Amino acid sequence: MTRNIKVKSTHSILVALFGWLILGTYIFYDYTYYGNRTLTHFFSFSDSAETLLHVIILSAFIGAHITAYLINERKKLLNKTNLSKLQIKQSALEWIATFDAIPYSVLLTDKDCKIIRANKHLVNQTGLSLEELTSNRKCHDTFCKNNRPNKKCPLHNKNNTSETSNYDYFDPDLNKSFSESITPVIDEKGSINSYVHVLIDVTDSKEKERKLTESKDAFFNMLTDLDSSYRDLELVHNDLIIALSNIIDAKSSWTRGHSIETTNFATKIAKEMSLDHHEIETLKTAALLHDIGKIGTYDNILDKPDKLDEKERMLIQLHPLRGEEMLSPIKGLGDLLPIIRYHHEKYDGTGYPDGLKGDDIPLLARVLCVADSYDAMISDRPYRAARGTDYAVSELHRCANSHFDPAIVDAFSNVLARSSNADSEIYHKTT
Ligand SMILES: [Fe+2]
Repeated sequence: MTRNIKVKSTHSILVALFGWLILGTYIFYDYTYYGNRTLTHFFSFSDSAETLLHVIILSAFIGAHITAYLINERKKLLNKTNLSKLQIKQSALEWIATFDAIPYSVLLTDKDCKIIRANKHLVNQTGLSLEELTSNRKCHDTFCKNNRPNKKCPLHNKNNTSETSNYDYFDPDLNKSFSESITPVIDEKGSINSYVHVLIDVTDSKEKERKLTESKDAFFNMLTDLDSSYRDLELVHNDLIIALSNIIDAKSSWTRGHSIETTNFATKIAKEMSLDHHEIETLKTAALLHDIGKIGTYDNILDKPDKLDEKERMLIQLHPLRGEEMLSPIKGLGDLLPIIRYHHEKYDGTGYPDGLKGDDIPLLARVLCVADSYDAMISDRPYRAARGTDYAVSELHRCANSHFDPAIVDAFSNVLARSSNADSEIYHKTT
């Protein structure tokens, strides 16, 4: 704020006029005596008494103007001082208004934690008057309800308070949580004599944080329960599949254990071919259930020691379609359906039920076909005795490209060769 302070003091004007009055009166007196020679006489120094009088009059004139000048300067100085005081007062009022308008509690303490100043928000928050707050109260007494600063409070160790520090505390009287920011006020000498505290009510955000943590914990517990339930369900599912495969194999004494053995061989081939986890698990379940379509087929056909006639063979060849049909209502087994439907397709397109050829046959169905055929060859059947493993392997190779996918036959040969070597090593160690 600026203000024009070019003012003339009334006293200075009067003093200056007084100087002019003395000088004018004497010149008038001289003029009545000496007429036109007035100025000659005024500056004549022949008579020492008159010279002294003239010096006194001139000094009085000059002195009056100097005095008038000084009076005027003094008044200017006073005006400046008053203006500065006014500006300081106005600034102080603006600062207090700003301080009181802050929507957080703000206080100023000295270095001994005594409250020097508090804003309106703090007065409202505490219910204490400004006079009560600033009447020798300590900040830790008033807010933390302790007779000294808490250990976590930055003012507990004043050496750590050269910068703004934050501190969370709970006011038991207000039942509220606060986040307090404490900033030291450093004077021009670099000393810290006071601190500005800003208190922010964080009760709502703490409550939200607590509820969020509770929700998060509840969610994790639910996930754990869900995971546990899923594992239980998975166990039940696996047990049911095994039970179902046992029912399938129990239809005939000739096929007992066939589904389990086929599954073991298929799994080994799939691992040898580095198929992924999901493919291996799908193949396992499909292998366990691959002959489910045989349920309901007349037992006398399955156990028949003679060659099947055309009608019987056609009936048997329906089992992949019947198996697909039986499992299709179960949504979770959808991936199994093409494996079960196509597990009797041949690589050269002469298989059933659709006569698919080569890579048109789903890969897992081709794997299952090799495992299924191998186990059938090494098992007793009503119409023939079990063939040896060497024979079965040579048959697989002979029928590679016609009945079987040659890459799968190679993979299975590797598995069987390793298994044979391992058996041989065990034999040598034990003999
Ligand atoms: Fe089959």
